[in-house]
Amino acid sequence: MEPSNPIVPQTGAGKRMCIVGASGKLGRYMVRHALDRGYEVVGVCREKSVPKLADYADRITVIGGDTNDRAVIARAVEGCDAVLSVLVPWGVHDYSSGTARAVIDYAKPDARLVFSCGWHITRDGRDTYSWKIKAAVAFARFMRITRLLDLDDQYRAADLIFNSGTRWTLVRGSDLEEGPSEGLPVWTRHVGDPLLESNMTRRIDFALFMVEAVTDDSLVQEAPAIVGCRTPSALAHAEKAI
Ligand SMILES: NC(=O)c1ccc[n+]([C@@H]2O[C@H](COP(=O)([O-])OP(=O)(O)OC[C@H]3O[C@@H](n4cnc5c(N)ncnc54)[C@H](OP(=O)(O)O)[C@@H]3O)[C@@H](O)[C@H]2O)c1
Repeated sequence: MEPSNPIVPQTGAGKRMCIVGASGKLGRYMVRHALDRGYEVVGVCREKSVPKLADYADRITVIGGDTNDRAVIARAVEGCDAVLSVLVPWGVHDYSSGTARAVIDYAKPDARLVFSCGWHITRDGRDTYSWKIKAAVAFARFMRITRLLDLDDQYRAADLIFNSGTRWTLVRGSDLEEGPSEGLPVWTRHVGDPLLESNMTRRIDFALFMVEAVTDDSLVQEAPAIVGCRTPSALAHAEKAI
């Protein structure tokens, strides 16, 4: 078994974390960050995607099943101190909201719950969106006619989270790219803030933000909109702050 990364503080030692959607691109990065921090990891993914976690087979417990299957989630989150969930609006059978509801219902009452979505989700309606984002949202909503995607279900999931009274964080990601880590993304409460202008985050760092949020109490009941810390808009903001 590969040892945990010895340079990373072992903030997860003795704690159990469930990662719902562990086999996806974001999920696999989250598994890696969690193991590096010493968490015991339980990953949930669709049965057909279990082989995508083969690299981690001897280091994590994998539970195969749909993430909106309440019995699957009940088993997976048992005894977990933190549950990280990838919310995706696939299909027209409440995949996002079903996943969120099951996590909220079955996680320990004091567990840290961290969910992922995009900037399009708004908590208080005070986000301001570019025409590009508005057009992308309108297109994604229209895609419901194909029955492949139900963006509104992600909005329903967000409402469940906001009203849950749990120790939640809903991390709202910018556009994503692959590449080596640049460090922990920076965040703000509202889309439209010049800090976010660059609209780009490395996927590996989105995952880092999700895992680090577990031990950051200032993010409890927040919906941070994030952007890469090395992007031009983040750097310009940092310069102004000096
Ligand atoms: N992509 C972006 O540019 C972007 C931007 C902002 C925010 N986000 C947010 O980031 C998170 C992950 O996004 P990502 O792009 O990195 O994707 P990802 O990690 O590859 O996640 C996609 C997830 O969806 C699952 N999935 C795929 N097809 C499915 C289906 N037909 N039915 C059920 N589940 C299915 C995948 O599981 P399998 O392994 O089983 O396929 C995986 O867990 C999401 O919360 C998303 O809202 C993404």
